[in-house]
Amino acid sequence: MKVYLAPLEGLADPPLRKILCACGGYDCCYTEFIRVTDEGLSEKTLLHDCPELSNGGKTGDGTPCRVQLLGDNQQAMAQAAALASRLGAPAVDINFGCPSRFVHHSGSMLLKEPELMRSIVLAVREALPPQILLTVKIRSGFADKSELPAIMEAVAQEGVSEVAVHCRTRADLYRRQALDWSVLKPLHEAFPNVCIVANGDIVSKESAEECERESGCTTLMAGRGAFMVPNLGHVIKDGARPFSDAQTLMQVRKTVELFISMGIEREKIITDRAKQFLSYARLASPALSAFFRAFCHCQGVSECLKMIDSKINELEGSTEERQ
Ligand SMILES: Cc1cc2nc3c(=O)[nH]c(=O)nc-3n(C[C@H](O)[C@H](O)[C@H](O)COP(=O)(O)O)c2cc1C
Repeated sequence: MKVYLAPLEGLADPPLRKILCACGGYDCCYTEFIRVTDEGLSEKTLLHDCPELSNGGKTGDGTPCRVQLLGDNQQAMAQAAALASRLGAPAVDINFGCPSRFVHHSGSMLLKEPELMRSIVLAVREALPPQILLTVKIRSGFADKSELPAIMEAVAQEGVSEVAVHCRTRADLYRRQALDWSVLKPLHEAFPNVCIVANGDIVSKESAEECERESGCTTLMAGRGAFMVPNLGHVIKDGARPFSDAQTLMQVRKTVELFISMGIEREKIITDRAKQFLSYARLASPALSAFFRAFCHCQGVSECLKMIDSKINELEGSTEERQ
């Protein structure tokens, strides 16, 4: 079993990838999507969006980081991919899954244009040296999951090693009931040369096992779940106990400390990121849910750290009392 940390724009940025990969046990992670315009991509943008390139393409703890590209211009995508590989990316991923309303003719909008997806994949593959992995991320359809086989035909070209599928269509957005891992099962036989990676709502060992049964996949990708249970990869693969609330809060604390050490001066940016982390973590814990409501009112960084420390002490005290 392998577990990947999903690309998450505005959430799993370089500092958070560093923190989550250090404790999470993930087999790889991704940059947030990097938009490729008709002009292509500059080295400066790539190094900014993927600082891991200056560390052999890996996060601080050694987790490989794939560069994810989003765009609709074949030549520009090919140029960007070639540049990423020259700068040391271990793999390039093409985003055909993003449903953002700020993404117009790219991301999941291309799911209804299989020919264009095919030509982008072929152009990017040709631009990459053979040893650099090319992977693709899609949804199970644009409007309907019956479109999945045709989408796979388009993207599962020779030289594409993995296709990760968020098991909802674009039309489904993030509707909980729409998730369907079982659509992946027939793909293993139909596309034997491609590893199919299952994605969507994997937040625990139980959901990972259910996903594995339903999808037939042994490589899973977790996104929001990694903020709910920061050591999710270890939980799924090694049977580790999910982090306690105090351990999860320690990761929120580390996030604050890392942003301070990076010299971020606007305190609101730092406190907002801590609140964002907790807004997911609380979904896995009633205690953190109650804490989050109070934490949302905290203003500056020192108040934020004080509240976190006091909650950690309270939680650790109550654990000691129980023992
Ligand atoms: C805040 C947010 C940002 C996302 N950014 C990206 C992105 O940059 N690239 C991408 O391919 N998918 C992106 N996604 C989709 C996730 O990678 C993933 O497919 C989706 O959240 C379902 O997985 P999960 O239930 O494990 O979170 C994003 C999702 C969220 C919630």
